[in-house]
Amino acid sequence: METLLTAFQLPDLESRFQARIDAEDKIEPKDWMPEEYRKTLIRQISQHAHSEVVGMLPEGNWVTRAPSLKRKAVLLAKIQDEAGHGLYLYSACETLGVSRDQLIDELHSGKAKYSSIFNYPTLNWADIGAIGWLVDGAAIMNQIPLCRASFGPYSRAMIRVCKEESFHQRQGYEIMLTLSKGSKEQKAMAQDALNRWWWPSLMMFGPSDQDSKHSAQSMKWKIKRFSNDELRQRFVDMTVPQAELIGLKVPDDQLKWNEERRSYDFGEIPWDEFWNVVNGNGPCNKKRLADRVNAHNEGKWVREAAEAFAKKQAQRTDSKLKSN
Ligand code: 3HC
Repeated sequence: METLLTAFQLPDLESRFQARIDAEDKIEPKDWMPEEYRKTLIRQISQHAHSEVVGMLPEGNWVTRAPSLKRKAVLLAKIQDEAGHGLYLYSACETLGVSRDQLIDELHSGKAKYSSIFNYPTLNWADIGAIGWLVDGAAIMNQIPLCRASFGPYSRAMIRVCKEESFHQRQGYEIMLTLSKGSKEQKAMAQDALNRWWWPSLMMFGPSDQDSKHSAQSMKWKIKRFSNDELRQRFVDMTVPQAELIGLKVPDDQLKWNEERRSYDFGEIPWDEFWNVVNGNGPCNKKRLADRVNAHNEGKWVREAAEAFAKKQAQRTDSKLKSN
């Protein structure tokens, strides 16, 4: 599209586009947008969708091992929500002119990323509590501002997603509360889960601001409203008191309240580990991708049946319209 515009038209279009962003307009799929805006939205929204779908795998591991029928039902409801979040986000992404098949191929080929957090194993039931409390808690911190993202379909998908995420976070925290009030062994399980999930949860917010290659432009385009470090800090400030309330200790000996800043100082994130996992060498990267590809292949007949049914329905409607 932009090749058709002459050199002097583009700057004017781009400045008018930025003026719309600055005026807090919502950009809709059919509106003119810079190619780079469209590309970075496809990048972020598709990786967000992939994260939702891959995120079901570590939790799925515990559906058959849940300690009670109630816990099983709650976990199933959460996993079902995550699938729905993935579908909203894939649909939002498709409005930018990419196909679902292309996005799925990019995930399965390893070309597209998903959140590093889902490449860690879930070793026991306390991990399911830690995931709900910390991972969904971090997701909420990151997703609430996305409800005000400049791209309409993304911000609207986020409003629905965030309503369900707060249930996810609460049920996770309730699991950790129950364990921390339980036997010595159960409290130890909860502390061990916090020890293993704390730092990977902080990594969910992305690299530090100085290492983030997309943040500046994403904030100018109001896709991102806050920087990675700002949201990470808010998450730490919100979560540390929650850990203390249930008698658990955050695994960071540099963590301390800074009265002057009115927030917590905390230790350096293990960035080598972060980039190692992002680059495919985490504990479960290979298994997650293999499980996703298998699930997709095994589900082929379901997609074909749904398409055949939809085609039949369309034919029925057509013939009804013709006969009227
Ligand atoms: N895992 C994997 N890759 C990550 C990452 C992480 N935790 N954090 C950053 N990256 C990648 C980025 O994708 C980018 O790589 P790319 O150019 O190949 O896409 C690179 O590292 C540089 O990072 P930037 O900070 O420059 O990139 P962004 O501006 O895109 O910021 C982000 C990263 C904060 C994750 C942003 O993309 C974002 O807010 N995404 C939407 C939210 C999201 O995807 N959350 C993931 C979890 S979803 C979830 O938890 C679901 C819940 O129900 C459990």
